[in-house]
Amino acid sequence: MPRFHPLEITDIRRETDSAVVLSLSPKSGDFSFAPGQYLTFRKEFEGAELRRCYSVCSTPEEGLKVGIKAVDGGVFSSFANRDLQIGDTLEAMPPMGSFGAKIAASNLGFAGGSGITPLLSIIKNSLQADDNASFILVYANRSVASTMFRDELQDLKDRFLNRFHVIHILEDNAQDIELFAGRLDAEKLEGLFKSWVNISAVEQAFICGPAPMMEVVKTGLLAHLEASRISIEQFLSDQPGRAAQKAVSLESAAPRGALQATVLLDGVSYEVPLDDETSVLQAALDAKLDAPYACRAGVCSTCKARLITGEVEMRANQALEDYEVEQGYILTCQSHAKTEKIVVDYDG
Ligand SMILES: Cc1cc2nc3c(=O)[nH]c(=O)nc-3n(C[C@H](O)[C@H](O)[C@H](O)COP(=O)(O)OP(=O)(O)OC[C@H]3O[C@@H](n4cnc5c(N)ncnc54)[C@H](O)[C@@H]3O)c2cc1C
Ligand code: FES
Repeated sequence: MPRFHPLEITDIRRETDSAVVLSLSPKSGDFSFAPGQYLTFRKEFEGAELRRCYSVCSTPEEGLKVGIKAVDGGVFSSFANRDLQIGDTLEAMPPMGSFGAKIAASNLGFAGGSGITPLLSIIKNSLQADDNASFILVYANRSVASTMFRDELQDLKDRFLNRFHVIHILEDNAQDIELFAGRLDAEKLEGLFKSWVNISAVEQAFICGPAPMMEVVKTGLLAHLEASRISIEQFLSDQPGRAAQKAVSLESAAPRGALQATVLLDGVSYEVPLDDETSVLQAALDAKLDAPYACRAGVCSTCKARLITGEVEMRANQALEDYEVEQGYILTCQSHAKTEKIVVDYDG
């Protein structure tokens, strides 16, 4: 089961006015990562613990780095941009996620805003690891000034002249080519496929960005590619900001119904009362178990466990692949018991 470990901040680079890149040196734990994976950080703000995920934006040779864009009123991202200093320590779980698992020879990426972070890691890794790999990146931002990793992408373009192409779509700035100005919508997407991207040659596509952009791109891509050739990473979070929920003790919790979960965690088995309106994760946290979680929205897979006995209804799943579901894995933050007794293994 993943655990939190201390990581020292060895460098902070201001990437744009509202984004920083942190270099991290783990003090314990195995933080080796695959391209496209993310770290889950935890930190207390005013006595309440927040957990936030940030994708690794580097290659293993460059060391562990994350890029954090400040969102208006966002607790963790504002803290990271404003308060963190070199030498400070953050706590994070080892890398997770499988966004970059399907890198092919001919790849197409769509990034919006801070959604560039996992794609940057995937792009650098694929171009360096395989001389035959190529990547086209369509990168949507508000303006040049708010574009993260603009210089690094330019350097990559110069280094991998024939294998890496980037198309910047800018909302606010007038571009010479009309297709590249404004928001990325269905019409623009088809325009790109007509003149700039040979979609029939694409083996794998990757999307990460704001929800509306991802929806448009996914729908547009599905007209050309099978669903299995489209990898999606969501940055959504269902976590409240400063009003983060504190764990409720068993004594003060509302009486639970007749449902029961046996939860295996760190080799120990616990009996946890349940009702069908409470997720398996919430029931475990209410019982004061240290079950892993981050987004609570079914997008990050940190709360993944294996269902050994019984049935659950998984209300959302943006993180598990079909084969993982077939193997019995569930997202406990989204799983509600459908049978009187379930057995869930966080260690499996
Ligand atoms: C797998 C994954 C990878 C990610 N990778 C990255 C990455 O590489 N880089 C990156 O920058 N981000 C990334 N994210 C997003 C990141 O985890 C955070 O969601 C983001 O930084 C915002 O967190 P926050 O604590 O700053 O904002 P929050 O405090 O969670 O606030 C988010 C928004 O909600 C509003 N809000 C907060 N609380 C309330 C409330 N009580 N009522 C009304 N509105 C409220 C805030 O004003 C703000 O606009 C990733 C997310 C996931 C799931
Ligand atoms: S906590 Fe992120 S998917 Fe459950």
